[in-house]
Amino acid sequence: MNQLRTVILAAGLGTRMKSRYAKVLHQVLGRPLIHYVLEVARKVGSLKTYVVLGHQWKEVREHLPEVVDVVLQPQLLGTADALRRCQKALSGYRGDVLALCGDTVLLRPETVRRLVRHHRRKRAACTFLTATVADAFGYGRVIRNPFGQVVSIREEKDASWEEKRIREINVGVYCFHAGLLNQNLRRIKKNRKKKEFYLTDIVTLLNDAGHAVETVQTDDASEGLGINTRKDLAVATEILRSKILQEFMSRGVTVVDPNTTFIYPDVKIGQDTVIRPFTFIENGVRIGRGCGIGPFSHLRPGTALDDGVEIGNFAEVSRSRVGKGCLMKHFSFLGDATVGAGSNIGAGVVTANYDGKNKNKTRIGRKAFIGSDSILVAPVTVGDEAITGAGSVVTKGKVIPRRAVAVGVPARVIQRKH
Ligand code: UD1
Ligand code: MG
Repeated sequence: MNQLRTVILAAGLGTRMKSRYAKVLHQVLGRPLIHYVLEVARKVGSLKTYVVLGHQWKEVREHLPEVVDVVLQPQLLGTADALRRCQKALSGYRGDVLALCGDTVLLRPETVRRLVRHHRRKRAACTFLTATVADAFGYGRVIRNPFGQVVSIREEKDASWEEKRIREINVGVYCFHAGLLNQNLRRIKKNRKKKEFYLTDIVTLLNDAGHAVETVQTDDASEGLGINTRKDLAVATEILRSKILQEFMSRGVTVVDPNTTFIYPDVKIGQDTVIRPFTFIENGVRIGRGCGIGPFSHLRPGTALDDGVEIGNFAEVSRSRVGKGCLMKHFSFLGDATVGAGSNIGAGVVTANYDGKNKNKTRIGRKAFIGSDSILVAPVTVGDEAITGAGSVVTKGKVIPRRAVAVGVPARVIQRKH
């Protein structure tokens, strides 16, 4: 017992996004929507995850990890039909089934864990997540009897005038007893108005058969925000961005202006680092302690900065490792580079890492001094304590030896330091 498997419903069209691309592939802070939901499933200990796909399933599948099972829903006949498509895969399974939607990027693993715990403690047939919101329009309303017990979920289209005033909504996160889900999914009839099979009808069926239906309420209604429009995408991005910044600040990182700072979810930053305004830090970036980043810096995936590094205005770093105490303070670009500790990257330095076909590597040693406006046409190696003069162009394949001074276009070594 106590097993958990997850079904993620993601076959919908996402018409309101007005897009050529499937909705769940749109991004919030550098990640497709569906990845957020997959992460929740993983974090709550789901042993197997099925993603129900329909619209553009081939494209979406490309973005899913291999451990995920794709289940096709050929026709979008509603949320109950989507779950029915998984019945074969779930046959014989005796644990709990978590059902999530592919577009709820703000859902927290803690909340889902709480839901599953409650479900198990109560030995319920179904437990679903609710939230009380200011504007419930469009959501399924939670109908309770005078004792406060859930009776059913009423969809917007079928709700009476009175029911529409209810502000407690179904978030769309459910935990089911696998056997009872299986039995009752079959009994759901097509909704007459919308011509769809509503998963939410299962609540009434279970209740009528005397099975326990439970709810867990989240106090953070934003968790239930499903992305339907570009506006929702911006709202979710803003909420998540602000949460991420708060988390960093609580761990000893200074964010000078939270209004103009973008840090993606998969970033690590050490204590006493200062992030100045108008800075973008993308997924996979690692920053040490006591660094200074920005204003106007762009750190892209694959970047690792050791302690005490300074990256200044209009500087971009991508797929590069920068050693302890390096300074790179003005208008420069490092791509596919490694820089040893204590080096100085002057104003306007550019690693020309892309030759039109391949990305090539630049290696800069320790305590090197790359003069202003130097261009390093990769692959290039600059030795420890070497110097390039201002405006020099170090051409492809060149190795500047340790402690050498190279100047000019193309750069040539003019002297060695002692
Ligand atoms: C659903 C709930 C509603 C809840 C709301 C929360 C039903 C009938 N209603 O309504 O109570 O308040 O979510 O956001 O379930 N999907 C499929 N196949 C389908 C239809 C939908 O995979 O045939 C997927 C969609 O891609 C989406 C999810 O299921 O991820 C929810 O479907 P959607 O049409 O958005 O349902 P709502 O009308 O929002
Ligand atoms: Mg929806």
